[in-house]
Amino acid sequence: MATAGKVIKCKAAVAWEPNKPVVIEEIEVAPPQANEVRIKIVATSLCHSDLTYLVESKEEFFPVVLGHEAAGIVESVGPGVTEFQPGDTVIPLFLPQCRECRFCKSPKTNQCEATWKRAGQRDLKESRFTCKGKKLRQFMGTSTFSEYTVLHQMAVAKIDPAAPLDKVCLLGCGVCTGYGAAVNTAKVEPGSTCAVFGLGAVGLAAVMGCKAAGAKRIIAVDINPEKAEKAKVFGATDFVNPKDHTKPISEVLVEMTSGGVDYSLECIGNVECMRSALESCVPAWGVSVVVGWTDLHDVSTRPIQLIAGRTWTGCLFGGFKGKDAVPEMVKAYLDKKVKLDEFITHNMTLDQLNDAIELMKHSKCIRAVMRVSPQ
Ligand code: APR
Ligand code: ZN
Repeated sequence: MATAGKVIKCKAAVAWEPNKPVVIEEIEVAPPQANEVRIKIVATSLCHSDLTYLVESKEEFFPVVLGHEAAGIVESVGPGVTEFQPGDTVIPLFLPQCRECRFCKSPKTNQCEATWKRAGQRDLKESRFTCKGKKLRQFMGTSTFSEYTVLHQMAVAKIDPAAPLDKVCLLGCGVCTGYGAAVNTAKVEPGSTCAVFGLGAVGLAAVMGCKAAGAKRIIAVDINPEKAEKAKVFGATDFVNPKDHTKPISEVLVEMTSGGVDYSLECIGNVECMRSALESCVPAWGVSVVVGWTDLHDVSTRPIQLIAGRTWTGCLFGGFKGKDAVPEMVKAYLDKKVKLDEFITHNMTLDQLNDAIELMKHSKCIRAVMRVSPQ
């Protein structure tokens, strides 16, 4: 590539300050250093955690380039990279897989010790982005709201080049998060009864995971009645709106299922809903998975809920080890075993990121996919 080894000037959406519109700027992207890969982003989608960071982070965590759900093509590689070549089709991973640490070597987890140290929250020193003489932070080590980005090779998954990148970009976060929570973490069994709380992209993907695992009954729970139809598309058999009931939603679910569901998944990020999800489970063997993200509040229940035999657990990125699982999920989509198109409510370009942010703030979109470069 003519650009290899050189600084690339390109467009990116820069968030200069908390909770202000992002600005499309020309930025400089440095060449990849040792073990790094520079990627041309083809498509990227807005996920809830981009929005949470923009709204809730302190001034000191700006300026930043957000975005972590994306797909693209390798432009050039740094010294020491053997796994990738220019032209490879890839998905960035906000949760890396170094394959060497004690977590990576264990089949029990998808966590990687390198996450927060190296590729997770890149500090300024490690950022390859500059704009107007200022270093920009790389959100989650990825920063995909840019025409080009640089990632550590442990945080990149190589996928089938036949995949449409404006669809499979969704596998970079939300869809794998929900789907894997059902399949890997809850380990939903055939014939079981499940409840999914919250029907954004994550919850709908959890519904799809429950169905793929053979659940007989899947109860979708959301306060927005418009979500009922969409949940059916992914396999929900029942829809319950907590607002239609005076009783606590856990009691409603326990009655509906003669004692409680086998599995529940909280896909909202609300500690009250996490408690409801746990208490909706059958004693003895009910499993409740926390999928929705919050770091602001404590979560609580009475010990008897656990003593009775329920399991309360959680996962990040659906328990998937990214380098291994993302290419398999891409294949599952190409084989029509996993739906992606049905999550996409808006197709846009990177210039329209502020519109996508407004839509997501007002719960008007499930996923807005932005084209960044031609495939
Ligand atoms: N009870 C039931 N449903 C609720 C409640 C509630 N109290 N509060 C919100 N919801 C529903 C909303 O109506 C919406 O349909 O939860 C859904 C949440 O969906 P999105 O906001 O689109 O979020 P999503 O992108 O799916 O992410 C969900 O997972 O990864 C995390 O950071 C992410 O915490 C977020 C969560
Ligand atoms: Zn590791």
